[in-house]
Amino acid sequence: MVPIGSGVGAALRFLAAVLDARAVVEIGTGTGVSGLWLLRGMRPDGVLTTVDVETEHQRLAKQTFTEAGVPAQRARTIPGSALDVLPRLTDGHYDLVFCDGDKREYADYLKEAMRLLRPGGVVAFDNALWHDRVADPAQRDEETVAIRELGRTMQEAEGLLPVLLPVGDGLLAAKKEWIPE
Ligand SMILES: C[S@@+](CC[C@H](N)C(=O)[O-])C[C@H]1O[C@@H](n2cnc3c(N)ncnc32)[C@H](O)[C@@H]1O
Repeated sequence: MVPIGSGVGAALRFLAAVLDARAVVEIGTGTGVSGLWLLRGMRPDGVLTTVDVETEHQRLAKQTFTEAGVPAQRARTIPGSALDVLPRLTDGHYDLVFCDGDKREYADYLKEAMRLLRPGGVVAFDNALWHDRVADPAQRDEETVAIRELGRTMQEAEGLLPVLLPVGDGLLAAKKEWIPE
């Protein structure tokens, strides 16, 4: 479990701040490093909902948030597998969805994020370069292929405005556009 570095952290904090985020979903709590960057960019009353399959990771993340002085009500940690938990979250309620869980599930996270985000909200995926394997067509392992396909899907999808930020191991973000009725 590798936490994000400061480049990705600053980009996430920036996104949360420009979105004036009140509600953020994170997939892959880890020990709370990315969560703390997100919380620092969000509104002071904003709530981070963070999901992880490992309860021990979430215990460490809660400790990270407490030590950083984050009020308990600002971080909602939900244990469980992302694809079990995400369907229980409210449609159109979230400003930002940050994905850093199982790379092989990234396409499913995108589908869930499109439902969870308000129009104008942003979805972001860590490890979009996957240690430079995504750009090398000879690399065909499951995770590399999943991330490569996600990039194509996001580039071609109607209603998404994507950008690949070359920070850390790559942060692939997209704005969910307003679609006229
Ligand atoms: C790279 S770490 C997250 C690091 C964290 N975002 C940070 O920067 O501090 C990936 C995390 O995703 C969790 N994870 C893996 N597969 C998952 C799944 N299917 N659902 C939810 N969490 C998952 C792992 O337990 C691990 O804590």
